[in-house]
Amino acid sequence: MTTITRRDPLRYLGDELDTLKTQGLYRHLRIVEDEQRAHTTVDGRSVVNLSSNNYLGLTTHPRLRERALEAVQQFGVGSGSVRSIAGTMAIHMELERRLAEFKHTEAVVVFQSGFTANAGTVSSILTREDVVISDSLNHASIIDGCRLSRAAIKVFPHKDVDAARILLQELPAAQRKLLITDGVFSMDGDLGPLPALCDLAEEFGCIMMVDDAHASGVFGRNGRGTVDHFGMHGRVDVQVGTLSKAMGGLGGYVAGSRDLIDFLYHRARPFLFSTSHPPAVAAACIAAIDVLLEEPELIDRLWENSRFFKAGLEAHGFDTGISESPITPVIVGDGTLAMQLSDRLFQEGVFAQGIAFPTVARDKARVRTIVTATHTRDDLQFALDVFKRVGGELGII
Ligand SMILES: Cc1ncc(COP(=O)(O)O)c(C=O)c1O
Repeated sequence: MTTITRRDPLRYLGDELDTLKTQGLYRHLRIVEDEQRAHTTVDGRSVVNLSSNNYLGLTTHPRLRERALEAVQQFGVGSGSVRSIAGTMAIHMELERRLAEFKHTEAVVVFQSGFTANAGTVSSILTREDVVISDSLNHASIIDGCRLSRAAIKVFPHKDVDAARILLQELPAAQRKLLITDGVFSMDGDLGPLPALCDLAEEFGCIMMVDDAHASGVFGRNGRGTVDHFGMHGRVDVQVGTLSKAMGGLGGYVAGSRDLIDFLYHRARPFLFSTSHPPAVAAACIAAIDVLLEEPELIDRLWENSRFFKAGLEAHGFDTGISESPITPVIVGDGTLAMQLSDRLFQEGVFAQGIAFPTVARDKARVRTIVTATHTRDDLQFALDVFKRVGGELGII
């Protein structure tokens, strides 16, 4: 009898990982061993945390905790089904109602994440006959949604409205088109040019869509997002928001017309084919809306902290790019250097994740920082001092 030695068909993955190791780009997952807070314990070390999207500190807010615990007691831990079969509980509908009221739109559908909200929406509202006009730095979930839709994808250089116009001029007037941008770009922290894009969408008859993941809870009145910040109500057909970042919980949502939401109830694949939120998550997200409405001072504090920290980094001579939001990148260029900076900061008690290709361009590697409303001045001053010391040591400043 011959023995067949099975060769591992996944061997090439190990080769790729070895290449990452040689380049100094292999990452071990950092483990947060305490609550997700401004000051926490990561991999056994007490650190000032500049890596989370927990803009308002809601991951540990007492009102969210209480509502989640109550929901566990009242409704159990799971929803048991996808939304379109038996997984729509009253609390999911309450969350959608509250969000629609908050966003001033006719209706809202909640997805399991911001990622599935983007990917599920773009892929279901477009077909292979349609065209997407998309900013070059739009989030991966938008890119995946575009690919799944099979629509033609035309990419304009970052925030270049004139280039988007040229792309639109080349298309037949009757062509269905989606113009899509992030509200806040997650790696650079700059804003999409919403007013100019809305003008363009109206001139060329496009569907206008904004992904406000990093603007939810951060921009606009009470954190209503960039559509509110720029006064674009009624001009953006599809608004995506996330419940996973400033809102402190998990999930994504689409706000728009009743028809849009009904259509997504019938066609969006993550809605149809993946189980809905546990009731405790929905309850915590409802509490997060209450907090945005009743404790807007948290948003003020977030912005005060952001201004203080950004000014400090700039005063030390770091390249912080073009940020207009609490996301402040410290751009160093080389991927290995970004990882070294991140590692040295960590050893000194500051957790700021290094980000390199393919998440950002090869020559734009960086350490990304996000301050929150719950960082104290001492936390931020400590982090600035460490950045200065380590940045000097590595020859970055
Ligand atoms: C711009 C943008 N859109 C969407 C998402 C996805 O949101 P979620 O984490 O809720 O899936 C993210 C998160 O990284 C993001 O940065």
